[in-house]
Amino acid sequence: MTVEAQAELVIDAAGETSDAVLSVRDLTTTFTAGGQRIEALRGIDLDLYPGRVSVLLGESGSGKSVTARSILRLYGASAIIGGSAVFEGRDLVGLNEKEMQPIRGSGIALVPQDPTGSLDPVRRVGAQIVEVLRLHGVVDSKKEAQARAEELLGLVGLPDPVRAARSFPHEMSGGMKQRVAIAIAICCNPTLLIADEPTTALDVTVQAQILDLFVELTSSIGSAMLMITHDVGVAKDLADHVSVMYAGRIVEQGATSTVLDDPVHPYTKALLAAVPTPDVPRGNLIPIIGQPPVSGMTLPGCSFAPRCPVAQSSCTELVPELVSVELGHSVACPVATEFGAA
Ligand SMILES: Nc1ncnc2c1ncn2[C@@H]1O[C@H](COP(=O)(O)OP(=O)(O)OP(=O)(O)O)[C@@H](O)[C@H]1O
Ligand SMILES: [Mg+2]
Repeated sequence: MTVEAQAELVIDAAGETSDAVLSVRDLTTTFTAGGQRIEALRGIDLDLYPGRVSVLLGESGSGKSVTARSILRLYGASAIIGGSAVFEGRDLVGLNEKEMQPIRGSGIALVPQDPTGSLDPVRRVGAQIVEVLRLHGVVDSKKEAQARAEELLGLVGLPDPVRAARSFPHEMSGGMKQRVAIAIAICCNPTLLIADEPTTALDVTVQAQILDLFVELTSSIGSAMLMITHDVGVAKDLADHVSVMYAGRIVEQGATSTVLDDPVHPYTKALLAAVPTPDVPRGNLIPIIGQPPVSGMTLPGCSFAPRCPVAQSSCTELVPELVSVELGHSVACPVATEFGAA
């Protein structure tokens, strides 16, 4: 087996190897807005594995949400999507709306940023879970659906599941509503759970509990998890694997301990130097100079070059490819990988 093929496999705790449930290759997403072309994704490669938490980490506007929504094909005709996203043997990029519908929810479930917007304000939460269970045909009767809804509300940590099922969303706190949104997301045992900044709308004290719940659920239901965040701390705490995004591309990816403890790409290094940690107080932080490219602006070569401390003239000519620097660790920066100058 080649080194590349080995990197495609993970070895679980029992020593078994398992294949990716989702393999994304060269995914591109282009919008046209006001006559302007916006290349939001410029070639994303990503592999997600059962029981593993992968984090997509990047600044605002880097393309994290577009990645999730493109995989789920939520843009309809408003975006042109290229490349492939093979989920359980089928390329989602080639599927039509009718073929996508059963995959959303039962195959791949999305937990949104703001639970309030995802719940129907005028229906009891139990009824909302029952509806999803019946829509996907995972229960035989309404009674079974009601019992399963209460079981799920207990599983996501709501202390009185019977009462919770009878509540309306406005009777719940933000944290409770996000637990309901998670219950809906896992109710059809999805193979892949995608959470797009699922705690930014919540109190800091509740955030950690909800994030812990995700990790627990990922291991107990054995689904793959893609967590989207701009928070390096969240990535460090939760992720087995991290993909760092910048301006629509992944610039570095690999095991969390490798990428965040020993980064190679100049952007990953700059990102880590710009966030506080218990060892680095706020006063010692080094902000990243300049701004990311504005929406719709396509730079030749590496998009980080104008802000990069080690950029060379060649960096503005060729788009850097992700290359393997060690088993399971890839970096898109020839200056860092070929010359070790970063
Ligand atoms: N529907 C759309 N039409 C046109 N451009 C879009 C659309 N959705 C996103 N974009 C553009 O794509 C780029 C990536 O957006 P995206 O929402 O994925 O960023 P993000 O990384 O999720 O940021 P944040 O952390 O702020 O959520 C941005 O430049 C954004 O303006
Ligand atoms: Mg987003």
